Amino acid sequence: MNNSNIPYGKQNITKEDIDAVIEALQSDHLTQGPRIIEFENQFASYIGSKYAVAVANGTAALHLSALVLGVQEGDKVITTPITFAASANCIRYCGGEVVFSDIDPETYLLDIEKVRTLLQKSPKGTYKGIIPVDFAGRAVNLEEFRNLADEYNLWLIEDACHAPGGYFTDSINTVQNCGNGNFADLAIFSFHPVKHIACGEGGMITTDNEILYKKLLALRTHGITKSDYEFSNSIEFACGQNPELNKYPGWYMEMQTLGFNYRITDFQAALGTSQLERAKEGLENRRKLALNYNTAFDNSIYIKGQSGVVEGHAYHLYIIEVENRLGLYNYLRENNVFAQIHYIPCHLMPYYKNFGWKEGDMPNAENYYKKCISLPMYPSLSYEEQNTVIDLIKRFYGF
Ligand SMILES: Cc1ncc(COP(=O)(O)O)c(C=O)c1O
Repeated sequence: MNNSNIPYGKQNITKEDIDAVIEALQSDHLTQGPRIIEFENQFASYIGSKYAVAVANGTAALHLSALVLGVQEGDKVITTPITFAASANCIRYCGGEVVFSDIDPETYLLDIEKVRTLLQKSPKGTYKGIIPVDFAGRAVNLEEFRNLADEYNLWLIEDACHAPGGYFTDSINTVQNCGNGNFADLAIFSFHPVKHIACGEGGMITTDNEILYKKLLALRTHGITKSDYEFSNSIEFACGQNPELNKYPGWYMEMQTLGFNYRITDFQAALGTSQLERAKEGLENRRKLALNYNTAFDNSIYIKGQSGVVEGHAYHLYIIEVENRLGLYNYLRENNVFAQIHYIPCHLMPYYKNFGWKEGDMPNAENYYKKCISLPMYPSLSYEEQNTVIDLIKRFYGF
């Protein structure tokens, strides 16, 4: 019998993290200070992208991404039903139409062949973009998605919330990190506490595209620019009198487009940078824990895992499919193990049912939902705790 609670995911805050936050709190900048740029630079170098833009959360990252890619009323965008609703909602924020396409039952990722069929069925130009999700931390093969997207002139947003540090290997055997900007136009990340890097709330957009990068910077902060070369009003207007020098005054800025306040604070960025220093270590722990689960459940007729090649998996979640999932979930809870379900298929959320989506539309996602359960997975999960979880599952199924 286990006495202390074991959640499915948990942040890992060290003394270094706390010191970094305190230092930020005692500095001159609680927000819009140097720690944000530092976090962005370090994150871009960890992921391997040219640019990174830190924002308030992953949902804001998705919203800004959809905006800078020009999503408008009625634009059709394809995504997976097995994701957190935010991956789809960003299209709705812009008035676009979300078109769900089913998952591959082995990888639980958006099935590229189903997307191809969907695209083939309509005239070119019907769809605007695709949002694949590195679900659970398993990297999508973005090279294949890029090729498909190029055939139909579509953009790609990689929802990499579950996969900082994850990767896939491309057709010439090169390792491609999730979010590295080589294939997707934009990639987004979340720094919610259960994710690999915790900021409390926080998000990041990575890209190799300078034009998109600049648009993101403006939209993150009300659509305001402070760059002289971008101003459209005259220097005379800006000065409010005849200028002494042919120069915009120091206070001048322009709001040129309708943006938002989607900024992250400096103390959250300080926490993010500090957490980033341990990201590799945390990822290694997650991979070791996943291996232990794999070994424990190997050959079990009761348990199916996210099978196939899992090299490069970032293991935000460790998911198995089981019979009598409700029974197992309750049994684990009775023993203080708080497993979770990821996800209730998005197309069957009442909001999306209003658009006509119904049961039977996505058979693979719906079958997956009946059986999936996410087991505890976080870097500080001890082997003793993990063994408690494994033993409980074995006892429940009697193997
Ligand atoms: C796949 C996915 N996309 C987007 C988000 C949204 O991120 P946030 O909670 O930081 O807004 C999440 C967060 O749970 C997520 O799991």
